[in-house]
Amino acid sequence: MNSPRICCIGAGYVGGPTMAMIAKQCPEISVHVVDLNQARIDRWNSNDLPVYEPGLDEVVQEARGRNLTFSTNVREAIHESDIIFIAVNTPTKSFGVGAGRAANLEFIEKCARTIAECSSGHKVVVEKSTLPVRTAEAVKRILESSGNGATFDVLSNPEFLAEGTAVQDLLHPDRILIGGESASAVEKLAAVYARWIPRDRILTTNLWSSELSKLTANAFLAQRVSSINAISALCEATGADVDEVAKAIGTDSRIGPKFLKASVGFGGSCFQKDILNLVYLCEHFGLREVAEYWEQVVKMNDYQKRRFSTRMVRTMFNTVSDKRIAVLGFAFKKDTNDTRESAAIHVCRDLLEERAKIAIYDPRVPESQIREELRLSFADAMGRISDHHAKLIETNVTVHASLYEATEKSHAVAVLTEWDEFRNFDAGRVLQSMFRPAFVFDGRNIVDRKQLTEAGFEVHSIGRATSH
Ligand code: UDX
Ligand code: UDX
Repeated sequence: MNSPRICCIGAGYVGGPTMAMIAKQCPEISVHVVDLNQARIDRWNSNDLPVYEPGLDEVVQEARGRNLTFSTNVREAIHESDIIFIAVNTPTKSFGVGAGRAANLEFIEKCARTIAECSSGHKVVVEKSTLPVRTAEAVKRILESSGNGATFDVLSNPEFLAEGTAVQDLLHPDRILIGGESASAVEKLAAVYARWIPRDRILTTNLWSSELSKLTANAFLAQRVSSINAISALCEATGADVDEVAKAIGTDSRIGPKFLKASVGFGGSCFQKDILNLVYLCEHFGLREVAEYWEQVVKMNDYQKRRFSTRMVRTMFNTVSDKRIAVLGFAFKKDTNDTRESAAIHVCRDLLEERAKIAIYDPRVPESQIREELRLSFADAMGRISDHHAKLIETNVTVHASLYEATEKSHAVAVLTEWDEFRNFDAGRVLQSMFRPAFVFDGRNIVDRKQLTEAGFEVHSIGRATSH
């Protein structure tokens, strides 16, 4: 059998790393990644990749120029490929029917129309983006309406990689899921993954089960975080230690130890969006109780983020106005430069509303991105922001090049991302430049509480009573 030629529309956090891994593992398969965004493509072709992931540089360097290409030639790539992945983003709708809940499928539909226009012969179209159930059906109808004689099989192949560990997740996935009706199309795609993934980890289902499995997996994972975060509030009120509770329950093999880390709240491009999507689907099918059940996971997360900023203000004598607060970490988790839905955005917005001065440091997120996220956090549905808030961001936010620069002359330090470098810093050096009492609000429970308390800090952690 000839090697298939592959292309992928969408060179983001999912499309880029996934295609790079396929190209690395299958040197004889040509992989062409295309995107409308020229600036993004230029960075994929440079030494400064648009996505920060440990180990990704090496994977891209090995395959790029050999069998991996990045370009904006969407039509040409489609025309020349046998398997076409769609990995464009599917943000939550901000307008019209289902605003705030349903997925915006505009980009998916545009991709399907472009594929229909540029195809001849037979193509396998693979949904990589997370989609509401039954989207494949719509994609199939659009493809088949082109009338130019091309034929299509549509597969659902959701990606389960987590950012920050994408390369390892792609190398050793727990499973690959392929949903589709055509056995030959499923096998064509399965054969690609089987080059490095054991066959028993490649699961096949019908299209809708595959689409729903991705939403369900994310809902279950997010639910675990919201569950432990709910318990963290009770621990703070009663004197139990949430990390001890997590350890104790995690040793039950039915519960398991992973994904039980209490935090300032989950973020990322998927959890909230996918749950809201699930909620919208349930409502659409008249399943009100089911919708309400899952919606609580998002509500608990909003509560957790708000609870954290409120606790900071209360602890600091009910006012943070004009006080300098060092914010350590802006990415939604460590080892990524992604800030979508990061808890840090919400905490910073709340602190800015309280007129605090915030000094931010993140090892991977550029200043322009931080400012844009904060701007969007104050924007209305049309993307407009008041002069008051624009001024607040301009005058009260500074972005720094190191932890020590950010914490200088501050009243408090808030750890919002669990970057390794925040675990062990020079406590004496930070303390001597800070105002007293010197507060540390650890939104990730990573600092050495005992050591910092002994050094003279007042440490507030998630799900623990305060140390003085
Ligand atoms: C993720 C997941 O793929 C998806 O499952 C989830 O539903 C949304 O977020 P991600 O790769 O993280 O996608 O998105 P992003 O980094 O925004 O990348 C999408 C890319 O698609 C962008 O580079 C964008 O320019 C490109 N795009 C979008 C196109 O090339 N064409 C379009 O029509 C729309
Ligand atoms: C998630 C899913 O894990 C992945 O399978 C899917 O493909 C995309 O969505 P991602 O959002 O990249 O991946 O990262 P993940 O590691 O799941 O973390 C999501 C958020 O939950 C982060 O903000 C993280 O800090 C938070 N989290 C995670 C916790 O607060 N506590 C935990 O115990 C685990």
